[in-house]
Amino acid sequence: MMKIAVSGKGGTGKTTVSALLSSAFAEAGRNVIAIDADSNANLAYYLGVEHPEDIVPLSDMEQEIEERTGAKKGSYGALFKMNPKVDDLPEKYSIEVNGVKLLTMGSVTVGGTGCVCPEYVLMKNLVSHMLLNSNETLILDMEAGLEHFGRGVTASVDLLLVVVNADRVSTVTAGRIEKLARDIGIKNIYGVGSRVKNDEDRDYINNNTGIEIVGYVPYSAELERLQKEDKSICSSEIRQDTAGLVQAVDSILHSMQI
Ligand SMILES: Nc1ncnc2c1ncn2[C@@H]1O[C@H](COP(=O)(O)OP(=O)(O)O)[C@@H](O)[C@H]1O
Ligand SMILES: [Mg+2]
Repeated sequence: MMKIAVSGKGGTGKTTVSALLSSAFAEAGRNVIAIDADSNANLAYYLGVEHPEDIVPLSDMEQEIEERTGAKKGSYGALFKMNPKVDDLPEKYSIEVNGVKLLTMGSVTVGGTGCVCPEYVLMKNLVSHMLLNSNETLILDMEAGLEHFGRGVTASVDLLLVVVNADRVSTVTAGRIEKLARDIGIKNIYGVGSRVKNDEDRDYINNNTGIEIVGYVPYSAELERLQKEDKSICSSEIRQDTAGLVQAVDSILHSMQI
């Protein structure tokens, strides 16, 4: 019953890390739900879903949104339910790929200050419902930034992984994310070094990130190659390269459960 959120600057490797952890945990026998919470959804591609372009994200399910909230998608200002039924949505709409249940949230435009629309309320309720009630290991592939689903939701995350590359902007961003996360009460925050080419990269990340680095995803030409194909990025070579990271995250999860 662990909820892991993966954050970091855009392009650092959040989706890569989410995919690798999801499939490794599923392979190890955990029940994994991977939530693609990025409006530019791409986790399905990385996990090797057969026709990822056919996935209809929840935010685009107009009828479902209207039935559950009582208002049409995009209808700002209309009266709608703030607590729509969501408990059956994960089962209904997740698709299974290599043992991972994947749920794609889609993009939700939030209007001006304080203005929300029905699909936003539905997504927000769904994520908080899952964070609170799920018996699975939940892996949330986030949009860059933490504000997306607001305090109440993200606060119930057990473990936040911040993905960091060996560059200044990405380490500075990691610091900002850490601060935001601490502010909303997330206690377990660790960094993941990503696209690490050599010891210099590793040292740079270690020395410039104010968060303990739990593991690394080495730079991988194989990973780049796999991204051109319609297969999962989790090949045996990549699994081997990232076994240390998976094990480290796994031991953190274990120590948190005690
Ligand atoms: N370890 C790695 N080796 C090589 N390329 C990588 C690695 N990690 C990520 N990438 C590449 O970097 C790009 C961004 O990665 P992605 O996981 O999509 O980042 P994010 O989700 O943070 O935007 C992708 O094209 C991905 O293939
Ligand atoms: Mg991504």
